[in-house]
Amino acid sequence: MKTSLISTLSIGLFVSCGLADRTHAADADVLPHLRRQGTATQLIVDGKPFLMRAGELGNSTGEPAFLRQYWPKLEALHLNTLLVPIYWDLIEPEPDRFTFAAVDALLADAREHNMRLVLLWFGSWKNARSCYVPAWIKSDPVRFPRSHAATGLALEMLSPFHTANLDADTRAFSALMRHLRETDSARHTVLMVQVENEIGMIPDARDHSPEADGQFAAAVPAELLAYLTKNTDALAPDLRALWLGAGGKRAGTWSEVFGTDAGSEEVFMAWHFARYVQQVASRGKAEYGLPMFVNAALIRPGHQPGQYPSAGPLPHLFDVWRAGAPAIDFLAPDIYFRNFSEWARRYARGGNALFVPEALPAPEASVNGLFAFASLNAMGFSPFGIEAVGEPTSRAIGDTFDLVAQLTPLIVEHQGSGTMVGLLPEGAEQREPQRVVLGDYVALVSFERPTPPAVAEGLAAPGAASAAGGPAQPSGGLVIQLAADELILAGTGITATFQARAGGPLQAGLLSVEEGRFVDNKWTHLRWLSGDQTHQGRHVRIGPGSFGIQRVKLYTYK
Ligand code: DGJ
Repeated sequence: MKTSLISTLSIGLFVSCGLADRTHAADADVLPHLRRQGTATQLIVDGKPFLMRAGELGNSTGEPAFLRQYWPKLEALHLNTLLVPIYWDLIEPEPDRFTFAAVDALLADAREHNMRLVLLWFGSWKNARSCYVPAWIKSDPVRFPRSHAATGLALEMLSPFHTANLDADTRAFSALMRHLRETDSARHTVLMVQVENEIGMIPDARDHSPEADGQFAAAVPAELLAYLTKNTDALAPDLRALWLGAGGKRAGTWSEVFGTDAGSEEVFMAWHFARYVQQVASRGKAEYGLPMFVNAALIRPGHQPGQYPSAGPLPHLFDVWRAGAPAIDFLAPDIYFRNFSEWARRYARGGNALFVPEALPAPEASVNGLFAFASLNAMGFSPFGIEAVGEPTSRAIGDTFDLVAQLTPLIVEHQGSGTMVGLLPEGAEQREPQRVVLGDYVALVSFERPTPPAVAEGLAAPGAASAAGGPAQPSGGLVIQLAADELILAGTGITATFQARAGGPLQAGLLSVEEGRFVDNKWTHLRWLSGDQTHQGRHVRIGPGSFGIQRVKLYTYK
């Protein structure tokens, strides 16, 4: 007879508390950890806030010998952090026989290249499939059961409803974390760990295996209902509507509490994925307490549960994941869509710390990253397939990470304090400049885009097709207020004019504009910009095609 996962969960929690007792309390301050600063959450490494100028490797580039050819390129891109998959099938080729030689080589190479690592646990699930589970698991579906589609066919995807699957994953992940503790706790090469990869359910909103059917017909767990009841007003609007729309019940089966459509099945699945991940993460943390997160494949416009990888850590399911997996420190978006700022904002709400582990590897990754660091207090930003990026993307990413490296002390100082803003065109239809209030001044920032807006007064404009495909040359940046009348402007393709906030006869002028660089955190003068470069004192401009930093002093006159 199969053990119910619910009863195992409580045993697991008990065991994990026991293991936690064995870890050293002092670790918590010494290890990489998250800390609040104002409205921001920052990653603290070796006692200081750390901004991850990161890139994620393509899925099959994580073996050290193969990766070695790419280290020079990764360094040239000004990365300080690399996201690398850890393949379950390679570290546990036979049950309980672990081999960490590749992990050790990876750590040694990263240290040699002055790079930190975020490890991605390709465990039970990778993009809603189980392609990285060891062969001895794949080939034994009786002992390690699969999820089933509504048709009754088995999917190549472990079912989260079976303790054998959970136990095997937990054992392997715990062994990895133990090994990291033994080999890296003095160096902190590994900053944090992603648990699983893009968990999701497809082609149906839920698992239809017999075990899953049984759980779906059972009562919604009291912990989830207690969480919903306690946080009703703060719930994600879609989840609140689903629950209250079905009567806001405090007890009942999943269909009774959340209704009978696919939305209810998705909540059910999210809860069980979250409970599974909670066990994997908490047991791993008990071995070595690094920050841990899960990542989400986002929803394509118009797709319904079952059409997109459902039940992952998506914005409408944040509460379910938070209630089910408190060992997870934050939920992360993989943003491949061009409306970057919309998705990034949704993951920076409600106290969720923002890290973008996968971003579209395109030229606009550069300015999207600056926006995330400056406007959304991101801890890190990581284009996907970083070892393979070619021109013009690699230059844009390299230049922007060079800027971020120079500006890191200022960015981390200003995160969460309201004195720094990201500059980003919000879409092809945007007409007005971005308005930024900086103390006594207002900056109006316009973007130099190579293509016209896609829609002009309801009509497709010439060039609309290429605009929809995204600009080849990015524009955007950030502005940091250093003092009441002084600021740093950095980025590419931006022009700022200034107004006195008080208005009336008072006008704003440019006292001085200086182009420079930060070298070892010290401002280094390159040249003054007073004539054509500022349109004779009318605006501050960083032209398209190159990234720069300007230090601006303002004054008012009547
Ligand atoms: C998202 C996944 O998380 C990555 O591992 C990779 O498969 C990319 N998609 C490919 O675009």
